[in-house]
Amino acid sequence: MQPQITVLDAGGQYCHLIARKVRELGVYAAVAASDTPAEKLRGSKGVIISGGPSSVYDAGSPTIDPVLLAAGIPVLGICYGQQLMAHLLGGQVDLGEHGEYGFAQLSISASPSALCAGVHGRQQVWMSHRDLVVKPPPGFQVLATTFTCPVAAMESISQKLYGVQFHPEVVHTPCGQTILSNFVLGICGCQPDWNPAGQVLALENQIRKTVGARSVFFFVSGGVDSTVAYTLCLRALGPERVHGTYVDTGMMREGETDFVRQQFAGLGARAFFIEDARDLFVSALAGVTDPETKRHIIGEKFVDVQQRILESEHYSEDNWILGQGTIYPDTIESGGSAKADLIKTHHNRVAGIQKLIDQGRVIEPLANFYKDEVRAVGRELGLAPELLDRHPFPGPGLAIRCLCSDIERKPDPIQDGWIIPIRSVGVQGDSRTYRPVLALDTPPASDEAAAAIINRRQDVNRIVGVSRTCAPLSMLSVTRCSITMQRLDRLRHADAIVRKLSLEFGFDQRVWQFPVVLIPLGTNERPDSIVLRPIESVDGMTARAVRLPDDLLEKMTDELIQLEGVAGVFYDLTNKPPATIEWE
Ligand code: XMP
Repeated sequence: MQPQITVLDAGGQYCHLIARKVRELGVYAAVAASDTPAEKLRGSKGVIISGGPSSVYDAGSPTIDPVLLAAGIPVLGICYGQQLMAHLLGGQVDLGEHGEYGFAQLSISASPSALCAGVHGRQQVWMSHRDLVVKPPPGFQVLATTFTCPVAAMESISQKLYGVQFHPEVVHTPCGQTILSNFVLGICGCQPDWNPAGQVLALENQIRKTVGARSVFFFVSGGVDSTVAYTLCLRALGPERVHGTYVDTGMMREGETDFVRQQFAGLGARAFFIEDARDLFVSALAGVTDPETKRHIIGEKFVDVQQRILESEHYSEDNWILGQGTIYPDTIESGGSAKADLIKTHHNRVAGIQKLIDQGRVIEPLANFYKDEVRAVGRELGLAPELLDRHPFPGPGLAIRCLCSDIERKPDPIQDGWIIPIRSVGVQGDSRTYRPVLALDTPPASDEAAAAIINRRQDVNRIVGVSRTCAPLSMLSVTRCSITMQRLDRLRHADAIVRKLSLEFGFDQRVWQFPVVLIPLGTNERPDSIVLRPIESVDGMTARAVRLPDDLLEKMTDELIQLEGVAGVFYDLTNKPPATIEWE
């Protein structure tokens, strides 16, 4: 489908969010490389240049084909996009010393304006920039300013060029959708042409055309994307021609395998298989404590199992093709999604699978869809809400929530709490760091105060609050251990309790994800503790720690502390960054 709006990716983490927001206006938008030749963009009614972390003065910073700015196609530059436009057209961009991150007050100074039509006076906007435009290019009118930005928005109606320094695509800019709508529907004159739920018949036709006389097999995970992709194929081709295999690695949550079995039976799947590989995975992880080695081993075992299934079921023969639940952000290597790509590849790139991909024997029906659009398709297909509204769950499963240790050591007391000598992962800049955890009996009242503590200390990645321990922290100790079925079961039970109570209290709808983590801190009889990690997020790239209501925390703690082997309950107070969502 030809996009009416093309979003040029200048490396910003919000690039996909811009395309999603345009699609929410009912207009099909796609993401392309920033230097896409202007000639190729002529089919679009408008172009948006995304933000990005670079400075226009950096060697090799993303740029655009300058012809685009004189091509008569309306162009909107956002943040770095505006700076690039100003730089290329003779305006002035200054290097910012400190940058500006977070809320700012926008004062709309010009009226009438095509871009800011209907947006008046003072408005809250979200900023995330270092450099700034201090003088617009010739022929541009300044539309708005903030305390620090003399050119917070600008336009040249005759040249059809527009720019904003702030981010209209994020929820923290309430007038943002009006501004995007002014550009997309008003200035570019786009007509609504996009309704994901209305695509079901077209998707089924496309599947029949691509598959031809062949059949399709899937490795399903129980997640939303692969289930919706599978269901589309099932409807398009019928149950005899669509096979699915789910690999039970032993790293699944309680009841997961039965849940998946029931869901697929309910869909009318006939050739649906469960591969019980629990012993294989658990024994391969025995004695392993290093987090990245654990991930690597799981990735390798997946490869082995998938390869074995490919060969034993004859799926590598010509009459079979592979179905995958790949979605749009996974298909594009952009600045913001590069890490997500890295994380996911090990499941999708088994040698046998790579061969199928090289031969073009792959079908990815959802490759143009965003997650919320996949959910809309799933609803249209009649899939159950408890499947569509599931929280994301990582491929390596509970393995990365079951922390291991190769040392034996007591927590170190410090002035305001304890340093727990386990290693949890954080993100500092682009690199992952493994550091101990700070536990506080009386945690700071606000998120800001917790963030300030963690920013002050370079020796820890996270802060946790202590909910309850079976003995004073000075009596507990971190012990040597790796993954065992007993520890996995302990974590599974804890996770099931947390899920049950979150549902009962309606708390699961308030969070984007709620990892439950097992750490080897305890006593001889009770060697482990539980950490609760509820977070809010839009896409997992950044996250805010969410506090549990007091009554829910109390109830969870009551039930968790009674579990076999559990010595304490903690809750994570750290945002991402500096901590990641998962603990490994
Ligand atoms: P982090 O922990 O990096 O997680 O803040 C961001 C999102 O990615 C998920 N995640 C993974 N997903 N394989 C996956 O398929 C992995 O190894 C993996 N590690 C983290 C995590 O659950 C969160 O949604």
